[in-house]
Amino acid sequence: MATAPVVPIVSVTMCVCRRTPFARLLPLARERGWALEDILRETGCGDNCGLCRPYLRRMLATGQTAFTELLTD
Ligand code: FES
Repeated sequence: MATAPVVPIVSVTMCVCRRTPFARLLPLARERGWALEDILRETGCGDNCGLCRPYLRRMLATGQTAFTELLTD
């Protein structure tokens, strides 16, 4: 009998490099009309390893601040 593959559960809720939750960034971005480039410049989030950039982009587009999928673009 074959066993089901183990699928890791992804939970992405923050810029790890800056230790800043997306839930804190979203109200700032909305209040100040920030685009991704503004978030990078003003907070440093997304400006180090860059792995959170796709999540920041999605956050700005949808208002979502917690993700259970891997985003790479
Ligand atoms: S996780 Fe946001 S810049 Fe590294």
